[in-house]
Amino acid sequence: MPQSRLGLACHALLALGLMLSPRVFALPAATPAATPPMGWNSWNWFADKVTDQDVRKAADLIVTSGMRAAGYVYVNIDDTWEGERDATGVIHPNAKFPDMKALADYVHSRGLKLGIYSSPGPLTCANFAGSYGHEQQDAATYAGWGVDYVKYDLCSFRDVLDKAGITDLDERDRRIRAAYAKMHEAIVATGRPMVYSLCQYGFDSVWTWGASVGANLWRTTGDTSTDYDRIVVIALTQIGLGRYAGPGHWNDPDILEVGNGKLTHDEDQSHMTLWAMLAAPLLAGNNLTRMSDAVRDVLTNREVIAIDQDPLGSQVRVIRQEGPVLIWSRPLADGSLAFAVFNIGTDRASLRGLQRDVLQAGAPPGAVARDLWAGRTLKSLRDLDGLTVPSHGVLLLRLKRP
Ligand code: GAL
Repeated sequence: MPQSRLGLACHALLALGLMLSPRVFALPAATPAATPPMGWNSWNWFADKVTDQDVRKAADLIVTSGMRAAGYVYVNIDDTWEGERDATGVIHPNAKFPDMKALADYVHSRGLKLGIYSSPGPLTCANFAGSYGHEQQDAATYAGWGVDYVKYDLCSFRDVLDKAGITDLDERDRRIRAAYAKMHEAIVATGRPMVYSLCQYGFDSVWTWGASVGANLWRTTGDTSTDYDRIVVIALTQIGLGRYAGPGHWNDPDILEVGNGKLTHDEDQSHMTLWAMLAAPLLAGNNLTRMSDAVRDVLTNREVIAIDQDPLGSQVRVIRQEGPVLIWSRPLADGSLAFAVFNIGTDRASLRGLQRDVLQAGAPPGAVARDLWAGRTLKSLRDLDGLTVPSHGVLLLRLKRP
């Protein structure tokens, strides 16, 4: 998308974001997904090619790269693991996944957790077997394997409604919600805690009802891609949704593309910062076998992850937009403030008025500014004026009490 269209989208969404403010939910620490889930998902890199060996290798690399230590825990197998059902209806993995229990054991032995994927329809989006009519059986199978996370993707459930002749939109929405609730109940009945992730691309304002059908996270958009403009547009559509999310139930703008395609280092940092400011799940989607040090550093920056994982679970507040410069903040549990300046334009941007913005955004009195991507503490807030941000780059600050 050319910058002007991106700019227009920003202006439209800015107004919405300024009108709405985050609501905070406080739940016990034992709550599943008390902070946005972190891990890795097979889809963005491997898509339908993913195998048992790829998942084992990913688990190994999550440990050796330092990602596990940084908080990435879930190793999520997306679509295309599914094989046939046997005579009793039990689902079996296909030849790419010879022994799912053994794979789960392996992932657990690395100190990680295993995620799996299915659909409320008879077929998944890649036309493999879905869970329609087998919800309890599938949940029990997942529990038997030792699965810790289920992504449930709408896919062919819409065909079920078409075939049943259900055209009334409200009735279709009601049935879709019921289908999601059904799998939640099936998971609960297993007695095994599993994070429950809804995937229906943000239809029917899922953020208003996702938690009521037992979801810990729900996709709010279509898929991410390795296009910077797409990442920015997705992030902008999240403004105002923070009031529906909080500990235990999160908006999910989809798997990260950090390290994929032609995203530059600045774009990777911006993508990670957008997701951190949105309190979004951090599911890496890159090829870990060929991860550069620079990409690893973006994914494992502890201070940036701490913004994403802040226990308050509040989401972004829009401070202002000036041309291609977007200024966002996010209050944090310890009274400090996350403050991000994105340059979505094509030229380097000189920043003006940031000291004022920081104070207006609610920085604690006498705040000390830590530049999280540079890993340095500014001597004084006066240093903020005169800073520049490269095209598609970002400045991310944590403003702490002195
Ligand atoms: C899409 C979903 C993707 C991926 C894919 C698998 O519907 O948005 O994240 O799961 O299906 O087929």
